[in-house]
Amino acid sequence: MEISITKTTEPAEKPDSSILGFGKYFTDHMFIMDYSQGEGWHDARIVPFGRFPIHPASTVLHYGSEIFEGLKAYRKADGSVQMFRPLENIRRMNRSAARMCLPEIPEDLALEVLTKFVKLEQDWVPSANGTSLYIRPFMFGNDESLGVHSVKNATFMIITSPVGSYYKEGINPVKIMIESEDVRAVRGGTGEAKCGGNYAASNRAGERAELMGYSQVLWLDGVQRKYIEEVGAMNVMFKINGEVVTPMLAGSILPGITRKSILELLKKEGIPATERLISVDELVEAMENGTLEEAWGCGTAAVVSPIGELCYNGKKYAVNGGKIGELTQHLYDTLTGIQWGKIEDTFGWTYSL
Ligand code: PLP
Ligand code: COI
Repeated sequence: MEISITKTTEPAEKPDSSILGFGKYFTDHMFIMDYSQGEGWHDARIVPFGRFPIHPASTVLHYGSEIFEGLKAYRKADGSVQMFRPLENIRRMNRSAARMCLPEIPEDLALEVLTKFVKLEQDWVPSANGTSLYIRPFMFGNDESLGVHSVKNATFMIITSPVGSYYKEGINPVKIMIESEDVRAVRGGTGEAKCGGNYAASNRAGERAELMGYSQVLWLDGVQRKYIEEVGAMNVMFKINGEVVTPMLAGSILPGITRKSILELLKKEGIPATERLISVDELVEAMENGTLEEAWGCGTAAVVSPIGELCYNGKKYAVNGGKIGELTQHLYDTLTGIQWGKIEDTFGWTYSL
């Protein structure tokens, strides 16, 4: 597809790597493409980054028709840039779109515009250790009327942000609160879609946890509040008695691409890993009898994040003495090694610009 390009006349100064944090700085341009029923996707354009007009009755402002993705581009030691499994994000975005009655984008087209846009912004991919360019594609319903129905008009955009680590702890263990009041999702709901509303609804519990000194919450299932689901912005894995376990995908949790990659990695390395139901009682028992050896979260923004403490019903449990575990460290090193091109990618996960 033809993409019109309007370059900024005021390029921003690139922030120093030491102050990046997550999602605070944005690159000079953004990608926009519109959809109208009958016409399909059209008017692909790259324009200077900035505010844009939106109709006050736009669907997204009232009914939350919004989905997003998150992936990263990494600078290798030779200066070249690669993305990690972009097609996986595109496929998940289309599944989210189907769930939210938003239009899908043909895979070829999505990959083409994503690659062209990231190429244009590639000077913004930082090179310091642990930094990358976070890529945020998103789509919203954009009908200019108040009726509640699946939309006839939508807008797809991509913005990019040079980032460091997601948590202030970096690779140091985070403290996570097991949430027993609010729930994030139920099967049949939107839990497995990456839609904005899931995050809006999770903020209350997240704020409560933060006030008590925890980074995020670990959600339990929405029906019985009995089974472990996932953390606020990452999937979760445990090493219990030498075996890796992670909640199975049953419709209410996000099918993480980092999760999938770690499971593939473990399989290749012959480390036993199972996707199954994990009850909070089983986890508490494993914490009490010392068989919970390691716990970590995994996600694009958070990478592999060791969990050093879990709190449930007011009781605190240290995991691995509050230190990063051996397997967690190995997974972090291997995954980031592949992402930054320091380790050979024998999986075919990386995608050079
Ligand atoms: N779970 C939630 C709720 C998330 O927001 C994320 C982040 O995208 C993940 C899991 C991990 O998914 P991925 O590894 O694809 O980034
Ligand atoms: C990601 O890991 O890409 C996420 O989307 C997490 C988040 C900041 C919501």
